[in-house]
Amino acid sequence: MGKEVYFDNNATTQVIPEVIEAMVPFLGKYYGNPSSIHRFGSQVSEKIDSARAQVASLIGAADPVEVIFTSCGTEGDNAAIRGMLEAHPEKRHIVTTQVEHPAVLGLCQILEKKGYRVTWLSVDQDGGLDLAELRAALSDDTAAVSIMHANNETGVIFPIEEIGEIVRGRGIPFHVDAVQTAGKIALDLKRMPVDLLTISGHKFHGPKGVGALYVRRGITFPPFMIGGHQEKNRRAGTENVAGIIGMGKAAELASARIGEYDTRVRALRDRLEKSLSATAGEIRINGQAQKRLPNTSNVSFRYLEGESILVLLDQQGICASTGSACTAGSSEPSHVLRAMKTPADWLQGAVRFSLSGLNTEEEVTYVNEKVPSIVKRLKGLSALGQLGNHQADTDRGVASATLGARE
Ligand SMILES: Cc1ncc(COP(=O)(O)O)c(C=O)c1O
Repeated sequence: MGKEVYFDNNATTQVIPEVIEAMVPFLGKYYGNPSSIHRFGSQVSEKIDSARAQVASLIGAADPVEVIFTSCGTEGDNAAIRGMLEAHPEKRHIVTTQVEHPAVLGLCQILEKKGYRVTWLSVDQDGGLDLAELRAALSDDTAAVSIMHANNETGVIFPIEEIGEIVRGRGIPFHVDAVQTAGKIALDLKRMPVDLLTISGHKFHGPKGVGALYVRRGITFPPFMIGGHQEKNRRAGTENVAGIIGMGKAAELASARIGEYDTRVRALRDRLEKSLSATAGEIRINGQAQKRLPNTSNVSFRYLEGESILVLLDQQGICASTGSACTAGSSEPSHVLRAMKTPADWLQGAVRFSLSGLNTEEEVTYVNEKVPSIVKRLKGLSALGQLGNHQADTDRGVASATLGARE
């Protein structure tokens, strides 16, 4: 097989061998149901509690009991928002942002159709929030505020501490989608003014199909899944035991290596951006003026189509993304870049490179060598750089059709 470079770690990460090793016994030997009273059950439930402690430590929870295992980040987001609303059925207002992951965005759109009033906080051209807008939005009718920690497409980090002070100062529960930050930047919920927080195992080298929702002690949280008594009656359903064990191990390893993101991974990402800025024609780095995740680079190539770039990158063994994996396959421009009022000539050509601690200098060098020729080839196909907007749209279609035919 030729060279493979995986720069799509915000979509998912490689499950590391130690995690798989930790999981295997729970797919075989330890098959008991953790709710059973006999030894087959108790030996499994003890291990689930160890995994809970490992996850609690990754996010700095004061008490492991504040961690509820879920099936994924999407479930955590849905459960948190629905739980906050159910805790205050008399209140009908939700505050969130225009740039959330579909797990929050889509749910809030549905709730809006069902009669909730939703305030969609805007972002500026760099992807930053206006805290005055947040302050003005909050009212006695606000039941829930849900704001992401870092954006999955641009990596822009919102000032969660300041936001939390404002929201909780009004006595309103505050949920944070930290799916993209857990394992990448240190979280300390003992100090963060946050009531509920979502994470997902597969974003930090754990398995897919398992996540966790942190619910601060004392917060009213009506369960989302109803059934048995698992997770102290807060999330019914027989546990994904191997997944939970794997997520716990991944949390332990991520805690030990978290400093590497701010040093080595950030240096790799910065080198990628510096080189592309010098050699890949007209580019802009979306969200660059804001505080960003150290592993994420969202690059717009002017007049080009992100999907065409991805196809050619893939031919060279380079895996990246146009935005969130969940919107791949749709030709709609990113809702995040639209909310940032990204001009039309930069909107379609966005490519997200997202690194992890497993990436190397050599891989960055390889990508830096390949991208300029891909850009040159696409510019040659469409000559978009020299054409007006109308002609550009027509030719953009031709460029992607040509590439499509070649596939
Ligand atoms: C910010 C954010 N929230 C939620 C999710 C959903 O997580 P999961 O894939 O575990 O459902 C994702 C996944 O990409 C994400 O990036």
